[in-house]
Amino acid sequence: MIYVEANNLPSHIGIIMDGNGRWAQLRGRERVEGHREGSKAVRRIVRAARRLGIRALTLYAFSEQNWARPELEVDALMQLLREFLLSERDEILENGIRLNAIGNLGRLPAVVRTVLDPLRNESATREEMTLTLALSYGGREEIADAARDLAREVAAGTLRPEDVTEHTLHARMPSLTVGDPDLVIRTGGERRISNFLLYGLAYAELHFADVLWPDFTEHDLYEAIASFQRRERRFGLVGKPAEPILASEGEVATPASTDGAASEKAAENAPVLRLVG
Ligand code: IPE
Ligand code: IPE
Ligand code: MG
Repeated sequence: MIYVEANNLPSHIGIIMDGNGRWAQLRGRERVEGHREGSKAVRRIVRAARRLGIRALTLYAFSEQNWARPELEVDALMQLLREFLLSERDEILENGIRLNAIGNLGRLPAVVRTVLDPLRNESATREEMTLTLALSYGGREEIADAARDLAREVAAGTLRPEDVTEHTLHARMPSLTVGDPDLVIRTGGERRISNFLLYGLAYAELHFADVLWPDFTEHDLYEAIASFQRRERRFGLVGKPAEPILASEGEVATPASTDGAASEKAAENAPVLRLVG
C-alpha cells in the first residue's frame, strides 16, 4: 500500500520518459515498437496525474538532440505523436486539460503541427491540469533563447542591463510558466538529466526509477510522489531539527543518516534505525 498525501502533492511534475528502445530490444523487437508501447504509458500516466489532482505535468517526449537518430525512428516517433494527439483529443478536452508544447516547434513536421496547433488553441482555457509536451526541446537551447530575448530588449532600449536577473530570465522560459518543477522523474535506469528543464531544476526533487518507460505504471507514479513527500525541501535554508526517535525505553535512536538518499531508504524500509549512545 502506498500512501500519497492529498495536501502535499508536487504541483509540477516533469518526466524524462526513457527506455522505450531497450524495452523493445530486450524482446527482440524493433525500437519503434517500444515507442508504441511507450505511448500507452503516456496515456496511463496522464490519466493518473489528472485523477490525483496534479496541476502541471511536463513530459519529455523528444529532445532537440533526438533529431540525430536514424530517420526511420524519427519518422515513426512523429507519426506516433500525431496518433497520440488524435486519439487523446476528446479526453483532453473533456477532462479540463490544457495541452501545451515547448521546444523548437518550428522543426516539427506538418503531420504533427496540423494536429498539435488546433488542440493547443482549443484547450487553451482548460484549467484542471496543464499537460506540456517537450518536443524538439533542449534545456540549454531554452536558456539561450531566453537570453537572446533579453538581449533584444536591451538593444531596443526597453530593458536596462541591470534588469537582466534570474527573475527576468525565468519569466522568458516557456517551460516555467506553470512554475518550477517540484519533482522530476526519470525512468529507464540512467541517472542523468539529458538537457531537460535545466533552469527550472534548481530545487527540484529528483526521482530515478529503474523501470523502462513502457512498463511504468500508476503505481510507479504514486511511489515517486510518496518518495517526494518523505523529503524535506530546504531551498538553502536550515532544516527542521532532527527529532530523536525513542526506540524503546531508555534507548534513543536517530535515523541512520540525515543524508537525503539514506533517509529516503530508511523511510522505505522503516524502521531502519541506528542506535546511538
Ligand atoms: C525514450 O526512449 C524516448 C525518446 C528518447 C524519444 P529511448 O528511445 O531513448 O529508449 P532507450 O533509452 O534507447 O532504451
Ligand atoms: C532523453 O532521453 C530524451 C527523452 C526522453 C525524450 P535520451 O535517451 O535521448 O537521453 P540520453 O541519450 O540517454 O542521455
Ligand atoms: Mg534513451
